[in-house]
Amino acid sequence: MILVTGGAGFIGANFILDWLRLHDEPVLNLDKLTYAGNLASLAGLQGDGRHVFVRGDIGDRGLVARLLAEYRPRAILNFAAESHVDRSIHGPEDFIQTNVVGTFHLLETARAYWAGLSGGERDAFRFLHVSTDEVYGSLGPHDAPFTETTPYAPNSPYSASKAASGHLVRASHHTYGLPTLTTNCSNNYGPFQFPEKLIPLMILNALQGKPLPVYGDGLNVRDWLYVTDHCAAIRAVLACGRTGETYNVGGWNEMPNIEIVHTVCALLDDMRPDPRGPRARLIAHVPDRPGHDRRYAIDAGRIHRELGWKPAETFGSGIRKTVKWYLEHAAWTDQVTSGGYREWMSLNYAERQA
Ligand code: NAD
Ligand code: DAU
Repeated sequence: MILVTGGAGFIGANFILDWLRLHDEPVLNLDKLTYAGNLASLAGLQGDGRHVFVRGDIGDRGLVARLLAEYRPRAILNFAAESHVDRSIHGPEDFIQTNVVGTFHLLETARAYWAGLSGGERDAFRFLHVSTDEVYGSLGPHDAPFTETTPYAPNSPYSASKAASGHLVRASHHTYGLPTLTTNCSNNYGPFQFPEKLIPLMILNALQGKPLPVYGDGLNVRDWLYVTDHCAAIRAVLACGRTGETYNVGGWNEMPNIEIVHTVCALLDDMRPDPRGPRARLIAHVPDRPGHDRRYAIDAGRIHRELGWKPAETFGSGIRKTVKWYLEHAAWTDQVTSGGYREWMSLNYAERQA
């Protein structure tokens, strides 16, 4: 069995669904079910004995120790995190608590468990930490993409908290020999992404005829990767990655935000035309995100050379699937956009509109 933390979130849920499509090895899913965790994303696994869900915090050492002793996983994959940059600007404390303190406790509990293993079980054990390209900071227009040796230079409370947790993972390997693996991935998109992030937010607002809030000049660049490609990269690193190493994961697909928004509008106009006119009419430039990183780009050469991974989707195929998925899953979006979501939208955007 493997232990996945944060498996009710966007990437974790996609990872578990793919894993159980490809393997029969069971998954223990530990998730706190914050606003970002949705069991509806895993509804397809109802009644499937290979998925064991436990609601809990990665920082709860007693709970995690009990789960490790009972289920004896061969690997821990740590997806659990507070993940939204704008929320980290409004309220950084939860980010420190989960991403830094929570990861620290999880590492310590994993280390105690690993120390009690022997022989083949001990050799095979892995702690895989899912991190982000944001730890490397911001690139200028002509800078080379981030490699695994680019120094950390985080700029938001979110990326600072991910950088801190990455350092703790590194230290656990270097000091105690814990067999860790780290992945640093670029921006994901695809099914089950919470609609606070750029692509699903634009899809839902456009469908409702609401403004499409583009921060600043819309020329910030991100490198977009379809979520199942990220999941495949994580499986490759878990299977064959060298312990103590990090692997950058990216789509070789840099795009300015404004182009993403125009692409989403054009796809919606094609798949569900709006009698009031093209959705691009809804684009509204709003005040920028404080400290907004200008450009991210990933050099995913190492994972390609060493593990043979490369993305299967192009941006064209992935974004079409994504828009179609949101059109076909209104029940999921209705469920996740109740109550708390509306409060967040008004906190983050009311000021900007004003
Ligand atoms: P998400 O916000 O959609 O999901 C996070 C999940 O973690 C939720 O289910 C939440 O309930 C759970 N969680 C939060 N705090 C917890 C705690 N203390 N204990 C247990 N569970 C907790 O995030 P995501 O977009 O799926 O990202 C998953 C991971 O991948 C994160 O570590 C993130 O930093 C990293 N990452 C994300 C992206 C991206 O584009 N979304 C890119 C690179 C890396
Ligand atoms: O690079 C990997 C990171 O990608 C992950 O580590 C994070 O967890 C994930 O949230 C994502 O961070 P970003 O800040 O890049 O993603 P977000 O979708 O919030 O924003 C993408 C870009 O779009 C960014 O330049 C800000 C801009 N944006 C975002 C929102 C929500 C807008 O212009 N308008 C918006 O309303």
